[in-house]
Amino acid sequence: MGEWFTVTRVDQLGPGRRDVFDIEGYYIVVFNVGGRYYAVEDQCTHDDDPLSEGHLDGYQIECPRHGARFDIRTGEALSLPAVRPTRHFDVRVEGNEVQVLIED
Ligand code: FES
Repeated sequence: MGEWFTVTRVDQLGPGRRDVFDIEGYYIVVFNVGGRYYAVEDQCTHDDDPLSEGHLDGYQIECPRHGARFDIRTGEALSLPAVRPTRHFDVRVEGNEVQVLIED
């Protein structure tokens, strides 16, 4: 089980944009890639730096500190020095609201 939290509106997070939200103790970065939304915890699993300022190439976010890459669709770590995934969150759109699922 989990709970859906509204984080923003569709018109505030257009294609190519990203934003960070503080929800239930998590900093979560939500991306809009081509009209679809993806969310991961804003924390690199290598040394805990934020990922949200990193370069996004397709679905890969690169940590600005040491260059580890993660898949924003799954949170999977794709390159060293990170070896563990960052947490991934499901996202849905309800009307004009973008919502993130926080699992128990
Ligand atoms: S803190 Fe992200 S790669 Fe080191």
